[in-house]
Amino acid sequence: MLQSLIKLRSSSRVLQRSFTSALDKEITGNPEALESKYIIKTYNPDGVRTKKGLIFTHGEGPYLFDAQGKKYLDFCSGIAVSSLGHSDPVWAKAIADQAHKVCHVSNLFHSEPPLKLAKKLIENSTFDKVFFCNSGTEANEAAYKFARLHGNKVAKGTPLEGKKTHVIAFKGGFHGRSSGSLSLTYKPAIREPFLPLVPNITFAEYNNLDDVKAQISDHTCAIIVEPIQGEGGVMPAKAQFLKGLRELCNQHNALLICDEVQTGLGRTGKLFGHEVYGVQPDLITLAKPLAGGLPIGAVLAKDHVADAVTPGSHGTTFGGNPIVCAAANVVMDRLTEPSFLLHVQKMGRLMAQGLKDLQTKYPNKIKEVRLPIGEAGLYAGVECTGPVGPIVKDLVTKGVITITAGEKILRLCPPLVINEEDVKMFIKALDESLAAHEL
Ligand SMILES: Cc1ncc(COP(=O)(O)O)c(C=O)c1O
Repeated sequence: MLQSLIKLRSSSRVLQRSFTSALDKEITGNPEALESKYIIKTYNPDGVRTKKGLIFTHGEGPYLFDAQGKKYLDFCSGIAVSSLGHSDPVWAKAIADQAHKVCHVSNLFHSEPPLKLAKKLIENSTFDKVFFCNSGTEANEAAYKFARLHGNKVAKGTPLEGKKTHVIAFKGGFHGRSSGSLSLTYKPAIREPFLPLVPNITFAEYNNLDDVKAQISDHTCAIIVEPIQGEGGVMPAKAQFLKGLRELCNQHNALLICDEVQTGLGRTGKLFGHEVYGVQPDLITLAKPLAGGLPIGAVLAKDHVADAVTPGSHGTTFGGNPIVCAAANVVMDRLTEPSFLLHVQKMGRLMAQGLKDLQTKYPNKIKEVRLPIGEAGLYAGVECTGPVGPIVKDLVTKGVITITAGEKILRLCPPLVINEEDVKMFIKALDESLAAHEL
């Protein structure tokens, strides 16, 4: 056990900083003042920041430390990003080593790390080709454009030529905030200021195949779906729903795109979220955990999609950046070690059981515990009967970091390297918090 833990979390060597300069002191003394003076207010300081004055200075494994040295168990992972935990030494060394070699060459030239990463992603998946970019929203932009190119290709010379442009997305779905991905994102409050967005995208009810049947036609070039809606409340797709989407896509020669930005790369206990369903998408998008905390996005595509993409039809300066890909290579190596996903599944079952026990204990406070199919992933939504903001804030004072997915849903996505002790500590803290709060 100890050996496997050492493998999961390579022994750490965190560089603890001391805060001495005047600017250091100004920052750690009152981060809110600097934020308010210098940073554009895209994030609501009251809604997002859980504790005034809190500033994280370093991390180690599943723990974060604030400027006063207080330790926090991280059950947020920077929104499902830091799968290997913080400051993994092998990951950090790979970044430093690559920085000493070459940091950037652009896609006009080759460098080793993206080629290695491409090989690892393809050989560990059922896809044929990859496109690298820098974030989840960019991955979905690219997937949308590739689907449109595929639509153009298959419609060419038929009565559908120029008309296979319709895309179905889902109510409650979130795919990013750049204009193309925002067009695929449902939440009216974040879409409406930017209307008109990309046309010919319609929204169907999630987990309602009849609604999709009513919208799909031969004009549809793609359906985009999250295997588990993350921002939409950690809502898993039903098995028959995803299978049905695949069949509808087959009937209408449309592509099935799975947005795996949040469910991808071990979060559900499998390498990819769609594997839990036994459904084969034509494209998937990846981002958050792929480089262990550095910005990256990727589209994995079957050859019939990749073949529709022509040189010059899409691109990005930083996509496949050598440093970021060097980091992602470490993540992929770790995730594909035989014991890694077994560990995730074991910890996932433990967390699921702990949450279900809390639901039994607090039936008037916990309405539903939402888990990936198989209940063996480190991903959960705890739907409560009232707003969970006070619970999130209370957990911070207890040294536990969590996030929400909607007003009444606690979202849990810890680093995949947590151990039994961490899960038990988290469940105990949540138990105490639920006991102390009326919801
Ligand atoms: C399912 C899903 N897709 C896309 C995105 C957008 O990713 P990014 O914030 O990296 O652009 C997110 C972000 O939360 C997400 O959860």
